[in-house]
Amino acid sequence: MKLEQFAMERMQSTFENLVEFNLSESGVRPLTPRELIGNAAGLDGLLDQPLVYSQSNGTIELRQAIASMYPGAGIDHIEVTNGGSEANFITTFNLIDKGDEVVMLVPNYMQTWGLSRAFGGTIREWRLVEDHEAGRWRVDIAALEQLVSPRTKMIVICNPNNPTGARLTAADLDAIARIADKHGAWILSDEVYRGAEIDGVETASMWGRSPKAIITSGLSKAYGLPGLRIGWIAGPPSLIASFWSYHDYVTIAPGALSDRLARIAMQPERRAQLFERTRAILRRNLPLIEAWLKEAGGFKWIKPEAGAIVYVKYDHPINSTTLVTRLREEKSVLIVPGDHFGMDGYLRLGFGEPPEYNRAGLERLKELLTSLSASARAESGELRRDRAVAALGREGGHESA
Ligand SMILES: Cc1ncc(COP(=O)(O)O)c(C=O)c1O
Repeated sequence: MKLEQFAMERMQSTFENLVEFNLSESGVRPLTPRELIGNAAGLDGLLDQPLVYSQSNGTIELRQAIASMYPGAGIDHIEVTNGGSEANFITTFNLIDKGDEVVMLVPNYMQTWGLSRAFGGTIREWRLVEDHEAGRWRVDIAALEQLVSPRTKMIVICNPNNPTGARLTAADLDAIARIADKHGAWILSDEVYRGAEIDGVETASMWGRSPKAIITSGLSKAYGLPGLRIGWIAGPPSLIASFWSYHDYVTIAPGALSDRLARIAMQPERRAQLFERTRAILRRNLPLIEAWLKEAGGFKWIKPEAGAIVYVKYDHPINSTTLVTRLREEKSVLIVPGDHFGMDGYLRLGFGEPPEYNRAGLERLKELLTSLSASARAESGELRRDRAVAALGREGGHESA
């Protein structure tokens, strides 16, 4: 098995804690256990939690809380994992074999891309359409009809989408489900940004739209709790039972402290507060980053609908990885190059941190872009001068044969 490098995560893992300004994240500033628990008795309870192997597919209480978000689901529809990333891993590990086709909405979080290929699958890209006139990234259902066939084992979507922040509508999801059902394909819908909508209108879920719908999600983005490493899979019980047996081979169980804290986060009232906290951060920061983009100039973007990320096209003639590497090396700022989504010419900018922090990082990006433009101008000036000198030389007959 050949595992390609997961470029974005490799870059983040290597540098995110070394740079002065990390704008490569897609979530908001995380909470502390104190902020999450909110009272002394609860904190004491956490300290008295035995560090046992917790129930390996998630405690019943936690699975009940998760299941309550998916109409008709019970605890047997839910597998608790270590982050949404383990949820995606187990799903792909279990379902994709040599020769399977995977139709994947792109751009996307590239984890299932690399994993599907490692397990012998072939990716067929389904491109989101960048519709500046409509002001949104939208899906092309006719294109999906063309891509899905009896060879399609799974359709992968990410909704709300990373990196664009686009939200698919209920009608889009129904259309995807209809196409998947026609060919008997599984649908993996990564909904980890659900709940992090800027306008507060919760994204429609793929849940319940197809008998073969699988939802992966977790606490890292909309809940602001990435360090808990709690994710989950919701799906048909027979498949979930099989996933559980795969989980035995990967990490066995979620951490006991994390399961306990996740039970607190998933209490309906607490969950609503956490979503509101996230949305308030996004509502405060998005206008600031948009104002900065306008002021800086040279960027084109579609307003994200969810998540603390804006995906921008820039007009400098420099490769996105080169730009991001120079920004990190020269300015100690980390952002994500479009190359990591197979789209050079774009950047993903995170804005989940406090405004002053975001602004300071972005100002450094502006400094770099300004100096790049200045040297490009100087270079083209020099080039023009050289040409003029050469032409004069020719006219003056100085050029030797
Ligand atoms: C779409 C998507 N799915 C899954 C993950 C992984 O999330 P987790 O931290 O829950 O493992 C990420 C992280 O950025 C993501 O963007």
